[in-house]
Amino acid sequence: MGSVSQRDRYPLGRDVSDSIRLDAQHLLWRMHLGYILHPQIPITKGMKIAELGTGTGVWILDAARCLPSTVELHGYDISNYQYPPRKFWPRNVTMGILDSLTDPPPQLVGQYDVVHLRMWASNLKGNDTSPLLEHVKKLLKPGGYVQWEDADLVNQAVSGEEAEKFAALMQEIFEKAGLQYEWVSELPARLPGHGFEVLHAGNTKFNYGCVQLCTNTYLMAMAEILRGVQRNSVANKSPITVRDQEEVLSKLLQNSRNGMVYNWIPVVVLGQKKENA
Ligand SMILES: C[S@@+](CC[C@H](N)C(=O)[O-])C[C@H]1O[C@@H](n2cnc3c(N)ncnc32)[C@H](O)[C@@H]1O
Repeated sequence: MGSVSQRDRYPLGRDVSDSIRLDAQHLLWRMHLGYILHPQIPITKGMKIAELGTGTGVWILDAARCLPSTVELHGYDISNYQYPPRKFWPRNVTMGILDSLTDPPPQLVGQYDVVHLRMWASNLKGNDTSPLLEHVKKLLKPGGYVQWEDADLVNQAVSGEEAEKFAALMQEIFEKAGLQYEWVSELPARLPGHGFEVLHAGNTKFNYGCVQLCTNTYLMAMAEILRGVQRNSVANKSPITVRDQEEVLSKLLQNSRNGMVYNWIPVVVLGQKKENA
């Protein structure tokens, strides 16, 4: 299947190993949360759920296993490169192309009972969440829910000398590449400004059973980001050197089971669109 936008400036990768990392991260989230749909969201016959930035579609496909087959599940992304072929989609699942930083098309406005987002941390340039939050609000019916899980890369859980050194080196790269992550921990405070009531917000770090899976997948993501930053900076004709970071990362990957911790903090938010929003 071709991609509509392999030329976008997404800093992560979209190859098979990158898809496997997303799927492993799905396992991490499932182990951390223990649910697919937040238990406060009522499951009703014929309800419609959209997932934005669906990636490999793993959340949507898992939701199709866990929820009644009358629930309609629609995944959207700017690229379809990581979707499984259409013949493997369950009957109540569709996956399409949509840029969630623009206004949704009129036929999607007010259509959804739930909008799910996960791991948007590296998708936003700068800290501006307004276009995305407005997009979510427009897709939802009044009283609809936004369920959001994301990675706080500012307040991390990092321990071990090499891991701490790498974290500091990565902060330098994030700054040079204009990748800002402050907005993630601010999400619960930002939702009310866009017509949402926050029903639940959490930021508990991973427990022992999840720490290694987070370290492994996070280090793999950093390798992807370093490649992406280099790719984009060359395309922008302002090359950023990532050699020091890659050197330390390669050592970390060889020793990732030596007891070090390299975790982001999982941020979970459940919001409800106000009736008059
Ligand atoms: C880190 S992946 C997360 C995928 C999935 N949500 C998950 O948790 O497994 C981020 C996804 O967001 C998509 N994305 C980036 N910018 C987007 C935009 N403006 N509109 C829709 N999707 C976007 C990327 O193409 C990528 O598939």
